[in-house]
Amino acid sequence: MGHPIAHSKSPFIHAAFAAQTGERLRYEAICVEPGTFAEAVAAFQDAGGRGLNVTLPFKEEAFAIADTASERARLAGAANTLCFDAAGKRQADNTDGIGLVRDLRDNHGIALHGLRVLLLGAGGAARGVVAPLLAANPQSLVIANRTHERAVELARRFQPIGPVSALALDAVGGREFDLLINATSASLQNQVPDIPPSAVAKGGCCYDMMYAADPTPFMRWARDSAAGLSVDGTGMLVEQAAEAFYLWRGIRPRTREVIAALREQLAGTS
Ligand code: ATR
Repeated sequence: MGHPIAHSKSPFIHAAFAAQTGERLRYEAICVEPGTFAEAVAAFQDAGGRGLNVTLPFKEEAFAIADTASERARLAGAANTLCFDAAGKRQADNTDGIGLVRDLRDNHGIALHGLRVLLLGAGGAARGVVAPLLAANPQSLVIANRTHERAVELARRFQPIGPVSALALDAVGGREFDLLINATSASLQNQVPDIPPSAVAKGGCCYDMMYAADPTPFMRWARDSAAGLSVDGTGMLVEQAAEAFYLWRGIRPRTREVIAALREQLAGTS
């Protein structure tokens, strides 16, 4: 469920997982009018719905209407996955952060341990990934955002669980990072957060949580830096879906072939 939802690649991804694992599954995108989310979930359950993914702008509401929540959903204050038990109780979870960490580790060979990480953005997308990033033991996690106070607030929220701090966007150029993660929505306006390429350590990685058939604005920006790798969030999208599939079905699908198929599909529709 989301609004808008027509662009969603999740039906494609889950159909691929179902085909691969032999699970019988129907997964459809449902467009929900803001203000009617709780009713839409109830109607979906009444109609026999077994589980749900939730995207913008309903992730906070999905968390709020759940009966129980995983720790990672609690820390994010938002849910992208709901599981319903036999009695209809709703369990909220958030698989976005683990999707990012798995994509980095398993698909791009980047273990976060000991890295200096810069997270750009302080909205819902950023908040959803902070705890799983910290759980992977980076040397430091610095949050920088156009509106600095939001970065300060976000860092404060997670300080009890790891080495996270906020940095003003205009101070980023004085530091170097091994991994830069763009969790802003700047790409939607064809923009990039205003930081200099010198913030990227030699051979570092620039990761854009956005995905597209062509290199995103952030990936294009990275070309002028010392980055050894720049990638988009296609893998994260598939990995977060795989974790949700596992929560619902108890089976872990193989993701690599689905990432490749999704890239092909994106290229074909661009
Ligand atoms: P989401 O849930 O996708 O994170 P959001 O809560 O609206 O959406 O947050 C969008 C994020 O992208 C914010 O960090 C926003 O910065 P502000 O807090 O200053 O608004 C950031 N963002 C959006 N457009 C941007 C731009 N053109 N340049 C830099 N940051 C931008």
